[in-house]
Amino acid sequence: MNQTVLVLDFGGQYKELIARAVRNCGVYSLVKSGRISAAGVREISPIGIILTGGPNSVYKAGAIGIDPEILGLGIPVLGICYGMQLLCHVLGGGVAAAKGGGEYGQTRTQLKSDSPLFSGVKPLIKALMSHADRVERLPEGFVPLGKTALCKFAACADYEKKLYGVQFHPEVELTENGDDIIRNFLYNVCGAAGDYNIDDYVERQIKYVQDRVGDEKVILALSGGVDSSVCAAILARAVGKRLICVFVDHGLMRLDEGDQIENTFSNFDLQFIRVDAKERFLKRLSGVTEPEMKRKIIGEEFIRVFEDEAKKLGAVKFLAQGTIYPDIIESGGEHAATIKSHHNVGGLPKDRLFSEIIEPLSGLFKNEVRAIGSKLGLRDFLVSRQPFPGPGLAIRVMGEVTERKLAVLRLADHIVCEEIKKAGVKSSQYFAVYTDIRTVGVMGDERTYDNLIAVRAVTTSDFMTCDYTPVPHRVLKKISARIVNEVKGVNRVVFDITGKPPATVEWE
Ligand code: XMP
Repeated sequence: MNQTVLVLDFGGQYKELIARAVRNCGVYSLVKSGRISAAGVREISPIGIILTGGPNSVYKAGAIGIDPEILGLGIPVLGICYGMQLLCHVLGGGVAAAKGGGEYGQTRTQLKSDSPLFSGVKPLIKALMSHADRVERLPEGFVPLGKTALCKFAACADYEKKLYGVQFHPEVELTENGDDIIRNFLYNVCGAAGDYNIDDYVERQIKYVQDRVGDEKVILALSGGVDSSVCAAILARAVGKRLICVFVDHGLMRLDEGDQIENTFSNFDLQFIRVDAKERFLKRLSGVTEPEMKRKIIGEEFIRVFEDEAKKLGAVKFLAQGTIYPDIIESGGEHAATIKSHHNVGGLPKDRLFSEIIEPLSGLFKNEVRAIGSKLGLRDFLVSRQPFPGPGLAIRVMGEVTERKLAVLRLADHIVCEEIKKAGVKSSQYFAVYTDIRTVGVMGDERTYDNLIAVRAVTTSDFMTCDYTPVPHRVLKKISARIVNEVKGVNRVVFDITGKPPATVEWE
């Protein structure tokens, strides 16, 4: 068992960043609700606790509190933003709305570098502040460790009880030396041993799966996405040929994607089944134009195809899933203001066909999953691929989905991806959209009346909001020229310059 640091969630946006920053320092982290009881904390027995930020005011009715007993367990605590205000409020300090306004954005912050939290950190840093309230009076036993022009307690500590608070956000890149501050908390205050690394984690998972599964078979629904691919690679190590990967090819993949997935997994020591369900899906989508209806049909059909295949394989009781830690945090995230609106086409028939579920990645973050994928020899196109929606190209073909439209879109999309990659443009997700609009053009001396392709490229860290990626004009020009020259049936290309909100990433 690794030493663990508990991140208690009070509804801040950055809980995952905190948990990831801790792991990047070699210490295992878990995110739990801020409402956890002291008994719950004792059971986990963490070496330190970090309280996240949050949207509430600690002194208002309805604000999420903390079981005060937690602060008396003798476990070091670091309160961040709301977390610091909560710490001070519960221990008898004073918190109030900041007179003269709060602080937002990078703020010059003076720190006491001779404290264990800030040792080795510059005495004056730019730190990200985002608060309307502030601590006006420290609780007994606390000393100030930092200040800004507007905030006299930008950081504080009770050294004896090992309780620390920072008003700013050390977990974000916009705070200078933020990583060092978190590292200092872990090593100087909590006395961490730094015993967490993902190699050990993988070895432990392999052993765990072997013990649990014994000589039985395991079935995995492989989508070709990062998570299910890495899950397959780990399980292949654990049970070898007793792993059966079922890849339901719904015919809505990008150019050559199904073949690439098949090639990759055929080389692994496992059983790989590619189900060509293209016709089944297209038939069910025939005549359907409404986006939500498309999603529902695809989700349902996926389950049906998977069930049919699973039945053919006989009595397999173990079903593996590529669930990762953020999926679990999201589902339990009772305080967060935003709710994830899309889920992968999952919802596999757990109860009916399989009595045991195996989720070897359920403790890992995406960056850790990618790192493991590379180490286990998965090809780059799988490990570093951009997110691809479960319903695939069906929600990038406006209106009815047909084989002809899909063929045009695949070629156009391939050009978009190739040129953006070649130019080294940093973008979180980029693709082409078949708009189902025809426009008049001229080619040679002839009039054309052909299709309009839209290019979408977005920059985001969480996909809940995004901005369009400012792809350089020379790259757009190349994309446009190539699409109209190489893709038959397209005579016009546009670039989508809308953010989310008010648009969304996908057009449907
Ligand atoms: P939107 O369009 O909601 O997309 O701004 C945000 C992110 O979610 C992906 N997306 C989906 N993923 N099933 C999925 O598995 C879906 O139905 C779905 N719709 C959108 C989208 O690609 C982007 O990364």
